[in-house]
Amino acid sequence: MMNFAVFASGRGGNLQAIHKAVKSGKIKARLALVFSDKKDAYALEYATKEGIATLHLNPKEFETRETFDREIVKHLRRAKIDFVVLAGYMRLVSGYFVEQYPDKILNIHPSLLPSFKGMHAIKDAFEYGAKVTGPTVHFVVEQMDEGALILQEPVAVESKDTYETLKLKIHEAEHRIYPKAIDLFVRGKLKIEGRKVIVL
Ligand code: GRF
Repeated sequence: MMNFAVFASGRGGNLQAIHKAVKSGKIKARLALVFSDKKDAYALEYATKEGIATLHLNPKEFETRETFDREIVKHLRRAKIDFVVLAGYMRLVSGYFVEQYPDKILNIHPSLLPSFKGMHAIKDAFEYGAKVTGPTVHFVVEQMDEGALILQEPVAVESKDTYETLKLKIHEAEHRIYPKAIDLFVRGKLKIEGRKVIVL
C-alpha cells in the first residue's frame, strides 16, 4: 500500500474528508503523516487525536524556501512517503520539492482553474459576479495553480448566495472531489498527457 502525507496550514477540513475516506476504505493508501508549517493548525490537533503521525517545521527558521523543503523531504523519505496531498497548505513549494516528487503532489484550489488563481479565489469569484465557480484538484508544478487539472466540480452562484454560503458550498464540493481524485491517483487511473490528465 502507498503511504501519503497531507500538508495543511489551517482547519484541515479537506484533511478530515480525506481521512474519512481512508478509514472507510474508499482510498486504499495509508495516511502516514500530517505536516503543517503552522504550529497551531487545527489539522495537527486533529491528526494527533486520530493517531496520525504529525510534523511541524517553522519556515522562519530556514533561510530559503528550498532549505525548508529539503528538511521536509528528509522527513518524508524517512516516513517512506510515496505521494503528497496539499490541502489548504498556504505556501508555495520549491522546484526542489517538485523534482523530488514529480507528478506525485496534488493540490486543491477553490476555483475553476485557470480562473481566479491566487490566495482569495472564493472571494474574487464572488465579487467578480461569476455565475459558476467551484474547486479544482490538480497536480503541482513549481508555478502556483498551474499544474494539470485532475477533477473540477461546478458550483452555481445563486442570487441569494453570500460570500459565506458560497464558501460553504465550495468546501462541500472540495470534500467530495478531493477523496475521489486521490482514489483515482492511488489506483493508477490518472495519466498525464501534457496539460491534460486522462482518467483511465
Ligand atoms: C480550501 O478552500 C482549499 O481549496 C484552499 O484552502 C482551503 C483549505 O481548507 N487551498 P481546509 O483547511 O481544508 O479546511
